[in-house]
Amino acid sequence: MTLPTHVRLIEVGPRDGLQNEARAISVADKIRLVDQLGAAGVRYIEVGSFVSPKWVPQMAGSAEVFAGIKRKVGATYAALTPNLRGLEQAMAAGVKEVAVFAAASEAFSQRNINCSISESLARFGPVLDTARQQGIRVRGYVSCVLGCPYEGDIRPQQVASVARELYAMGCYEVSLGDTIGTGTPGATRTLFDTVAAHIPREHLAGHFHDTYGQALANIYASLLEGISAFDSSVAGLGGCPYAKGASGNVASEDVVYMLHGLGLHTGIDLDTLIAAGQQICDVLERPNGSRVARARLAG
Ligand code: HMG
Ligand code: MG
Repeated sequence: MTLPTHVRLIEVGPRDGLQNEARAISVADKIRLVDQLGAAGVRYIEVGSFVSPKWVPQMAGSAEVFAGIKRKVGATYAALTPNLRGLEQAMAAGVKEVAVFAAASEAFSQRNINCSISESLARFGPVLDTARQQGIRVRGYVSCVLGCPYEGDIRPQQVASVARELYAMGCYEVSLGDTIGTGTPGATRTLFDTVAAHIPREHLAGHFHDTYGQALANIYASLLEGISAFDSSVAGLGGCPYAKGASGNVASEDVVYMLHGLGLHTGIDLDTLIAAGQQICDVLERPNGSRVARARLAG
């Protein structure tokens, strides 16, 4: 199969990245990160979450972040919303696109959002209905698509059934998340091949954490499956609070470097992106998780 000609990158560093950083980070630093990502040409940024601050304290202050960012024309600034209350808060903050998140594993669903998979889907119904009435686009996530920290192996058909529900409910795109980063390229291809029997490939995205160092290989495998949208996190920030040992998402800089090397355009300026990633790493006093950034900054 030939590679797609256009690839969309969904920058999740300010949300998926920062939600799991141990160190508290100020609203001002979050705003600067989002604005620097915009300046690098990133056209989709997941800025924060409207979730319980007791569950994910790092995302408290998301409304202030949305109020402070400079919105670039043509760019999308999105938020995670687990329920109607989250959607209402997002709308009050002027958010035009949100994401709901389900899991392919019952145990992970309970740990992450305190309900079963079917309860979560029922909870998303009113979120999607209200969003549709208000002209807000909704993206869907499925976690643990290539393995669960509590249940181990996950069947591709189980992923397909949850993803299909989200798509049928009105999510315009469903992002399949390798939350614990254990997936390998062959399993990734089988997964997308299975799910694509139910959802067109152009409505699917890949979300790879790099815990086992497989993320870039999995993205390449996904490209070969005709998938053309990927979530990534600048400087490889983060992890997942409900998946012990999970490292950050694949680093955006590394994905951009690989895509440009493949002749695929992203519209992103790599050097500006690297600068944004290093700036937030300095604030967090953590090593830069992007191999490309480390190589470039050393040189
Ligand atoms: P719950 O305890 O079952 O629900 O939490 P509840 O309705 O009983 O509410 C509990 C408390 O939260 C109450 O406050 C509510 O008012 C409040 P209290 O009375 O205790 O003071 N509350 C809220 N507060 C703010 N915003 C809201 C909201 N809703 C209720 N929207 C709930 C259920 C879903 C709220 C909770 O479990 C939660 O917030 N979970 C957050 C989980 C999360 O953010 N996880 C990380 C993101 S998912 C991810 O990272 C995976 C992904 O990257 C893909 C991948 O890698 O696979 C997307
Ligand atoms: Mg994630």
